Amino acid sequence: MWDAAFLDIVTRDVALSGLTSVRIGGRGAWVATPRTEQDVVALLNRFRSEGIEPWILGGGTNVLMPDEGLEAPVVLAAELRTLEIDGAGLVSAGAGIGTAHLVAKTAGLGLAGLHVLAGVPGQIGGAAAMNAGTKHGEIVESIEALDVVTRQGERRRYRPRDLDYGYRRSGLAGGDMITRVHLRLVPAESKAGLRKLLAAWLKDKQESQPVKSWNFGCMFKNPPGDAAGRLVDRAGLKGRRIGNAAISARHGNFIENLGGATAADVLALMALCEERVAEAFGVQLEREVRVFQPPVCSPG
Ligand code: EPU
Repeated sequence: MWDAAFLDIVTRDVALSGLTSVRIGGRGAWVATPRTEQDVVALLNRFRSEGIEPWILGGGTNVLMPDEGLEAPVVLAAELRTLEIDGAGLVSAGAGIGTAHLVAKTAGLGLAGLHVLAGVPGQIGGAAAMNAGTKHGEIVESIEALDVVTRQGERRRYRPRDLDYGYRRSGLAGGDMITRVHLRLVPAESKAGLRKLLAAWLKDKQESQPVKSWNFGCMFKNPPGDAAGRLVDRAGLKGRRIGNAAISARHGNFIENLGGATAADVLALMALCEERVAEAFGVQLEREVRVFQPPVCSPG
């Protein structure tokens, strides 16, 4: 078995719900937590040679895990956490570093760029993989390069122009794993001004979004020229509950796990939003949440 070679970084039979911000999901057969880039290279090479397709997971903030669990291994970026910041604003961050931590740290040093991610949860590798952003900007504007281990187990360094960056999209192939994010930040004219701006944006987020519940952040991408939250709201769906999941009463683009929600509850709510918004406004919502596939294992 592949896991025998990686005993020190593999855990068996893990609750997938604990790996995601929405706290939903069955059991994961294997979870690997590589500590170095070499670990990632060895692991992905082994998977390739055995024909295993792993799932790569960052902070799990935009992910819905299946109720049935996963037989395929999940590879976590969580332990890739080394950080270097030079005086000129070049940041080299392990993919598992918390985005909010890095936003606060760089703004505290008077470095601007990452502050546009005020209030974005998850890890910096995941943020780079899906071009996380807010109305103030996107992470790609600050990305110098990404260190990636491909599905084939090969190391690559990509510049954003080598990929296909767009709104909440990096173009990185599924199964490729970001191990480090290199950012080019800019010394702010006023450190105090930068901190004030960050604090104001965080306050704005706390007032307009359900920041304390179990949720995914936004479930849909904003359609061109409009906001998914506004459309779900106008369709009269705020507060709508299915099972133990509900559309937030505060913001229409958030689904909340009220406790014990299942992936099926969430999928039914997302389908309801898609259907009602299409009917009412002729707009097809596009999911930002990544739905992990049901297990490939045989039953029993
Ligand atoms: N609105 C409503 N009803 C609602 C929610 C929103 O009418 O229930 C209206 C608002 O009044 C506003 C417009 O819709 O006029 C946009 O809403 P908001 O300012 O809350 O921003 P958003 O477009 O819904 C985006 C990002 C968020 C980010 C915020 C703040 C997307 C999909 N969402 O939300 O990012 O935090 O701006 O910068 O791009 C995420 O991507 O996971 C995310 C949470």
